[in-house]
Amino acid sequence: MTVTLRDMTRADLPAVLVLEEELFAPDTWTAAMYRDELARTDTRHYLVAVDGAGAVVGYAGLIAYPEEAHIATIGVTVSAQGRGVGARLLDTLLTEADDRSQVVLLEVRADNEVAQGLYRRRGFTEIGRRRGYYQPSNTDAVVMSREVPARAR
Ligand SMILES: CC(C)(COP(=O)(O)OP(=O)(O)OC[C@H]1O[C@@H](n2cnc3c(N)ncnc32)[C@H](O)[C@@H]1OP(=O)(O)O)[C@@H](O)C(=O)NCCC(=O)NCCS
Repeated sequence: MTVTLRDMTRADLPAVLVLEEELFAPDTWTAAMYRDELARTDTRHYLVAVDGAGAVVGYAGLIAYPEEAHIATIGVTVSAQGRGVGARLLDTLLTEADDRSQVVLLEVRADNEVAQGLYRRRGFTEIGRRRGYYQPSNTDAVVMSREVPARAR
């Protein structure tokens, strides 16, 4: 499967919301939340991964201020998982974060071992926990942080 990354647009939102439901229910973002994010082009960077037929198979988003950046979301449809798409989305956002910010933060579900492993191998370390961060499921989050490599600054 050939997968290409490109910027997310409002036209992608119906497909993104289907994946959002598949991957994150019941703690899903709404269309209004995504529209707000896409409007903030100065500090946001949202990507989609599309297959050869143009279908959205993954997406990810970065919020980046000079002091810190935040991986806002990342997801790959179950049928396309395990083929490197999530790693490509993350690496692209981290390259962008390294240009814009000094440190990258993220929250990840405490029970999500696959995602935590992916982040650890990209240099993230656990710096704390937030109880009941994901709502309405009331799932705890692990907070992870990664300093921008010195050579990238
Ligand atoms: C987390 C997620 C985005 C990863 O996307 P993906 O396309 O499946 O990931 P990749 O194929 O690029 O693999 C990423 C890494 O995870 C490892 N991995 C993937 N699936 C795995 C599995 N089932 N078990 C163990 N490791 C796995 C890969 O070996 C790879 O390791 P690497 O970093 O050493 O290269 C995807 O699983 C997903 O959307 N999960 C549901 C939503 C979610 O949890 N999002 C993260 C919220 S913080």
